Amino acid sequence: MSVVPSSVTSEESVSLRFPTGFVWGAATASFQIEGATTVDGRKDSIWDEFCRRPGAVAAGDTGEPGADHYRRYQADVDLMASLGLGAYRFSVAWPRVRPDGGAVNPAGLDFYDRLVDSLLAAGIAPWATLYHWDLPQALEESGGWTSRDTAYRFAEYVDSVVERLGDRVTGWLTLNEPWCSAFVGYASGRHAPGVTSPTAAVAAAHHLLLAHGLGMARIRAHAPGMPAGITLNLFPVAAVSPADADAARRVDGLQNRIFLDPVLRGAYPDDVLADLAPYGLPDLVRDGDLPVIGTPVDMLGINYYRPLLVAAPSYSPPEPSEWVGVEGVRFLPSGRPRTEMGWEVAPGGLTELLLRLHEQYPRLPMYITENGAAYPDVVGRDGQVRDSSRRAYLDGHLRAAHAAIQQGVDLRGYFCWSLLDNLEWAEGYAKRFGLVHVDFATQHRTVKESARWYASVIARNGLPAA
Ligand code: FCB
Repeated sequence: MSVVPSSVTSEESVSLRFPTGFVWGAATASFQIEGATTVDGRKDSIWDEFCRRPGAVAAGDTGEPGADHYRRYQADVDLMASLGLGAYRFSVAWPRVRPDGGAVNPAGLDFYDRLVDSLLAAGIAPWATLYHWDLPQALEESGGWTSRDTAYRFAEYVDSVVERLGDRVTGWLTLNEPWCSAFVGYASGRHAPGVTSPTAAVAAAHHLLLAHGLGMARIRAHAPGMPAGITLNLFPVAAVSPADADAARRVDGLQNRIFLDPVLRGAYPDDVLADLAPYGLPDLVRDGDLPVIGTPVDMLGINYYRPLLVAAPSYSPPEPSEWVGVEGVRFLPSGRPRTEMGWEVAPGGLTELLLRLHEQYPRLPMYITENGAAYPDVVGRDGQVRDSSRRAYLDGHLRAAHAAIQQGVDLRGYFCWSLLDNLEWAEGYAKRFGLVHVDFATQHRTVKESARWYASVIARNGLPAA
């Protein structure tokens, strides 16, 4: 049953209307919600192993219970339908499908088969991300993303997934945020696999890009005509003063252009190659890699959370840094309000980012594949979650997205992060991003006020009059 009152129609009280056919969705990721980490043949991913390390994840949280979505997926699909979602972006867990990175485990694929059919039966378009950070631990033990071979193992895994689901999945995304997999996973070590080696991180970045390109070919083979691309976490980057312009250029290069240019132009930017030469980037690139990585995509998925305000490096970082090639760079606060993650709320940065992409990478259909906020939600005595901050956050960002569309950006959809409260990686379950509150002890779901508001946006295909 819909959470939107039947009096709401798409004709009334709309202040900003989105284009016809605009995709309204919500996103999740396998390790963050599924639980059931030892069920039906699944084996460890790097995140299972990382969560066991004392102090690696807040409160000692692990992939259990997640939001128990593996068992409760049908009820969750019913919830999505009640919100009127047009699309759902989930990720497929590689350690379910090829638990050791090698042989296929049909029971693991069966789960996604059931999920996809259930979504289609509810009229919700399934969007699949093939890699949202849960590398099989067995592959990490033979080098993980620092090993070129992992890219070929990824292609085999993609082959098995797309062969099974390619007739029914609406949109395909190869990787989620390879910057995090490479630099947070292998340079600062704040994420699994917790390695702290700048050269390892740079190797991981190149092999992730290669995996993307090889994966695209497998998607094309089994799901011709279905839209496919990659999801990047992109940031508008500004220098705090003209003297800091070079630091901003490097941060933009190492955060944004290192992935955008190979995927969309088939080449690393010269300045990124030079900045990362001390870490071996030019030596990693073999003949033929860049044409593979530059296989044309149908769309770019953008995860936007916040902008970066940068000042030049002024010290040697005391601990391993994600900022390989620009160690010691300072990120300054701009005085805006922050979410519970400490991330600044800056919707204007989204308009700026979309316009920049539109100008620099023309004729590129774009989807916002993640945007959302963590706030300390509580279920009130009346059973309601009054998350007005999240509602305001989403409202601001949707207005920013609309402004970009009005200026010509080919933005085709928006997926809110996240459908459900979940395991926020190293921050554990305490950081709640969901439209739907999850009580992790009972697995009770409560539709938050922001979700009811989002449902009314979807019903109107636009923002309600203020
Ligand atoms: C992104 C991740 C996603 C979630 C959000 C808050 O970097 O892709 O899984 O953790 O941040």
